[in-house]
Amino acid sequence: MDEVVASAPGKVVLFGEHAVVYGHPAIAASIAQRTTVTLRPAEQPGVHMGRTPLDAAQHPHLATMMGHLWDAERGPGLGISVASDVPRGAGLGSSAALAVACATAFRAARGRHVDAATGAWHEGHASDGTEPDLFRGESVDAPKTLEGERVHGEAAVSAEEASLLGHVAEALSQDGRASPMDTLASAYGGLVLLSNRVEDEETWVMRRTMPVEQHERSWELHHLGDLRLNEGLSLVVGHTGINAPTTNMVAGVAERRSTDKGIDEAMNAIGALVHRGLKALMAGDAEAVGRAMTENHLLLRRIGVSHPKLETLVSAALPTSLGAKLTGAGGGGCMIALTRDAKATSEAIELAGGRTWITPLGTQGARLEACPEGGLLRPD
Ligand code: MEV
Repeated sequence: MDEVVASAPGKVVLFGEHAVVYGHPAIAASIAQRTTVTLRPAEQPGVHMGRTPLDAAQHPHLATMMGHLWDAERGPGLGISVASDVPRGAGLGSSAALAVACATAFRAARGRHVDAATGAWHEGHASDGTEPDLFRGESVDAPKTLEGERVHGEAAVSAEEASLLGHVAEALSQDGRASPMDTLASAYGGLVLLSNRVEDEETWVMRRTMPVEQHERSWELHHLGDLRLNEGLSLVVGHTGINAPTTNMVAGVAERRSTDKGIDEAMNAIGALVHRGLKALMAGDAEAVGRAMTENHLLLRRIGVSHPKLETLVSAALPTSLGAKLTGAGGGGCMIALTRDAKATSEAIELAGGRTWITPLGTQGARLEACPEGGLLRPD
């Protein structure tokens, strides 16, 4: 079938949310819940979701992506469908998963191939092999394929590119405030670390720089991959059912910080804890990871981003888990527990009134599930 299908996972923050906004490091992990985007050529011109023309105000990620990547003049009409089991507004990176899945799908739809004569990568559709470069002048470095994914041995989208395009789309639809943490975890999968310095040469992937409100912000992005920790361990995600927008939570911390000096101390302590958590993760010491998570929760409570329902769910999870904390912006949303007994922990959280999901700690990142050779743009 002539359709492009791409999927990308949601994420949880293991350590360092909020402190990351003030230059401290943070570690996130991709989860089992994914968003899948399908692009299908359609008879009618333009871009439709179901029977409705795409509304840019309602779907800023999709509209941004189309503007960057799709050539509507040469492309067919498109029907877009989105399926997701990442709950929205719960701090699990649903918008990043959508942005990364879209980036992957549109990037593949635009087409990319290897010129057999020169071995160079080109964008667009390979016509007869003599004039393949539809975007002459835009040089494209040979992209690394997404983990384990090659389509017809050629067309490829790189995790690096999907993470960058996803981040740009997030930033444009959130007034430039998005940190690259969610899109990095979604594109690369596994565990990722974000810091204002290179923490480890081996896992360092790139520096990302972006203008944020008159300033230039930069982050050093690391891909920790899948750590040995996964054996016999799960994360249980517990949803409070309360929706607390990230921007409000971040603004609340900024406001309290101006009068409460203890908040900066707590942020410094979180920064130190992220390094401890990182060491424990690298050493495969699950007990130490769990302890650091619980300590991180206490510090998040100190900076004022917990909620009575989050406290109830964390307390319910602790007796059967190695550690538990809120994840993401707090004020509602979700908590996570690291456990060797996912069933017992999940039941305890549900009994306390939370809705749960069980996930490994880090899953495969963005994936190109299907793509016709050369993408969907018509050859000239
Ligand atoms: C991320 O899920 C939560 C915050 O750290 C905001 C951010 O990193 O952009 C609170």
